Amino acid sequence: MANDKIDLTSIQRQLMQVKHPELKKDIVSLGMVAQVTPTDDGIEILIKTPNADRRLQIGLEAQTRQLISKIEGAGKVKIKFEVDQNLKMEDGNRIFGVKKVIAVGSGKGGVGKSTVTANLASTLAMSGKKVGILDADIYGPSLGKMFGINGRVALKSEEDKIYPIEKHGIKLISFSFLVTEDQPVVWRGPMLGKAIEQFLYDVVWGELDYLFIDLPPGTGDVQLSLAQLIDLDGAVIVTTPQEVAVLDAGRAAAMFKQVKVPILGIVENMSGFACPKCGHVTDVFSKGGGEKLSKQVGVPELGAVPLTLDVMSSGESGKPALLDAKDSPLKEAYFLIAKNLEEQIANWEE
Ligand SMILES: Nc1ncnc2c1ncn2[C@@H]1O[C@H](COP(=O)(O)OP(=O)(O)OP(=O)(O)O)[C@@H](O)[C@H]1O
Ligand SMILES: [Mg+2]
Repeated sequence: MANDKIDLTSIQRQLMQVKHPELKKDIVSLGMVAQVTPTDDGIEILIKTPNADRRLQIGLEAQTRQLISKIEGAGKVKIKFEVDQNLKMEDGNRIFGVKKVIAVGSGKGGVGKSTVTANLASTLAMSGKKVGILDADIYGPSLGKMFGINGRVALKSEEDKIYPIEKHGIKLISFSFLVTEDQPVVWRGPMLGKAIEQFLYDVVWGELDYLFIDLPPGTGDVQLSLAQLIDLDGAVIVTTPQEVAVLDAGRAAAMFKQVKVPILGIVENMSGFACPKCGHVTDVFSKGGGEKLSKQVGVPELGAVPLTLDVMSSGESGKPALLDAKDSPLKEAYFLIAKNLEEQIANWEE
């Protein structure tokens, strides 16, 4: 005979206190409780998890057992797990505490993707936003250098969690923090997956308005799986005016479309040369790569950034040029890009 002394509402109430360790939400609202069945001498609870992560399961089991056994007459508590790969936990792969996660991609390397990320983040920070950058360029991390953090650093960590470094008001995490400069980064398959996962989910960002993800150049498997691992709110694509860069940036756009990430817009970098004396911008290369791509992809051009000596030297000085920029074409360009970006984000929200 099934246990009829037990009250299912009180069970649910207890289950609603079982928290998913990373998502910080209870397993009931995450849709993880599949079934609660009274048995002859107690109760059986079936919990679904998206994968066979034993650490997660054991943690949930311990919490559930402790809470359910508080209920009078609960009897024997049996907890079962079922892996359901299609389980859509409400929060998905959200990075905790972060309002908007924005990837910056380019396709072609060396177009200034990291520089644009650092300066755009600085612009938003200057406008009072809480901003972080995750340098996911595992093979050529450059964020550290741009912010004057060289080589390996001791990251504050506790219980599997790592804390970002804060520099010039921006929170930063880079793979370069984990290796010394002369130590080449050779990530092998499983280690790479683990490292990326840790970097994505075990960083305590606190509250952020924007987290920028500086992706490695290219549109191969690494970029694709990174783009899929995180629930991105949008992507920004950086190109230079030249035809080759535009072509590769088009591939990056196609990649984001494939994984259904909204493309917020295009930034044309190294668009003309700003004279260090008078600020006048001359077109040393052709222009219009960003415009061309934006028409082709059907997304807005957020703005164009000229080549400047400030930016070039700031790559070495350890402080994004924007943070020191006086009124200049550079500052104007970035504030326009930031404004357009925020408008696009608001548009996608509607
Ligand atoms: N607007 C600019 N004016 C002057 N120099 C720039 C500008 N943008 C980028 N650079 C310089 O160009 C070089 C490449 O930039 P950056 O490292 O940001 O490119 P990237 O696309 O991130 O490269 P990678 O593909 O290696 O990640 C750097 O030395 C940077 O200082
Ligand atoms: Mg880079």
